[in-house]
Amino acid sequence: MTEMAFSPHGGSVAARHELSRRFAPRLVDDNSFCRKIVSYQGNRVAPGLRWMKYKEGFSSELVLDFIKQENPNDVLDPFAGICTAPLVAAGRGVRATGIEIMPVGVSAGTAIAETANGLSKREFDRQSAALLREVRTLRTPNQFAFPHVRITEGAFSNDTEKQIASARQFLSNIDNDGVRTILDLACMSVLEEASYTRKDGQYLRWDSRSQRRLKSSFNIGPIADFSDALERRLGEIAEDIPAIKRQFGTGYPTLLTGSCLDILRTIDDGAFDMVVTSPPYANRYDYTRTYVLELAWMGFDQEGFSALRQRMLSATVENKAKTESLNKAYGNSRKTLDRSITIYEEQSAVHEVLGILRDRQGELSNRNVIRLVGQYFFAMALPSLNSGGSFDPAALSLWLTTMYSITARNCRWTSFWPTLRNGQASIVIKYGS
Ligand SMILES: C[S@@+](CC[C@H](N)C(=O)[O-])C[C@H]1O[C@@H](n2cnc3c(N)ncnc32)[C@H](O)[C@@H]1O
Repeated sequence: MTEMAFSPHGGSVAARHELSRRFAPRLVDDNSFCRKIVSYQGNRVAPGLRWMKYKEGFSSELVLDFIKQENPNDVLDPFAGICTAPLVAAGRGVRATGIEIMPVGVSAGTAIAETANGLSKREFDRQSAALLREVRTLRTPNQFAFPHVRITEGAFSNDTEKQIASARQFLSNIDNDGVRTILDLACMSVLEEASYTRKDGQYLRWDSRSQRRLKSSFNIGPIADFSDALERRLGEIAEDIPAIKRQFGTGYPTLLTGSCLDILRTIDDGAFDMVVTSPPYANRYDYTRTYVLELAWMGFDQEGFSALRQRMLSATVENKAKTESLNKAYGNSRKTLDRSITIYEEQSAVHEVLGILRDRQGELSNRNVIRLVGQYFFAMALPSLNSGGSFDPAALSLWLTTMYSITARNCRWTSFWPTLRNGQASIVIKYGS
């Protein structure tokens, strides 16, 4: 591992160097993967996974590769996104669990699992044709209007608002849960392209044609008609059904909506022998902003948004300390919480970094970044400890080492995945351009 003689940001690097040395044997550089595989790009054409554009995801191919290599019995992804890892594992006949805090992702995963394991093609064709007919009537059932929150107001044209309301009314009348889940996902997945917004890095970009008062005049290009976009998506779903049944039709993975910090506590020790995950990074990326249209579609109001943001792994400067909520959640199992506090406190590498940040806080664009970094690594100790009960507590150190080695190499990196097998954590770092 390349070591730097000094920190580019001042202060000691001794603790981080020590970590690098200790864990070097467990870090695997693998240049064999290209960007297509390590990012969502690979899923753009993957049956099912292409329905909901989830740019933060990894490809099914990557997961398949890990599963073939390790041949596990029980796979966990505590930060499951659209549930790529549990779906792929379950598709190989492996028991699989995904935990995801955003219902948007779980809904996508559930729709794919449902298509693979329960859906009748004939019923799907019948209901999707009826949905399209209803959307095109342009009736305006007000009680089914899109449930806007402050930051989604003005996202759609009047005609789109009418189409969305008709779609919501139609969905509320479907009795078949599976078909409703799939059609609901289809509608949710086209909201962005039918809106005046585009997901752009950490923010939603607004088009100047929207009713909002904007500082800049930005044009996002063509805006799709909701019913046309929906028709295309329904066509894709129909086209994907046979492939999905083949790939994911061997059973349902367990998909849980909620914070892994809370849920893992309730799962038996030793329940998993492999973890494949790509957690959120401490990079101020706010998922609740990026997915605001989809979350509002699912019924999140202003308070719901704030509460969700606070429950997510601390990655934004708005995240407050989780001490109180964790004390409540772990009331009966203080041992785990205390252990994770100790692990966090003993992480000299984290404290080395936090010390430097505190010394130079005047140079930070936002001083709450210091709290964000501390909270992030503290919270990360919990899933590490809980992931099957057999996870080496060194996982957190390993995590840090990876972060540090990536920074120290100063190389362009695409992403990295902690995988765990029989309590031995290893992190695969994928480099690429
Ligand atoms: C990098 S994405 C994972 C994407 C996933 N690998 C896929 O293929 O779709 C990280 C995910 O962690 C979720 N997340 C953040 N905090 C969480 C928490 N406390 N518990 C569970 N999931 C959380 C985010 O909503 C996000 O979907």
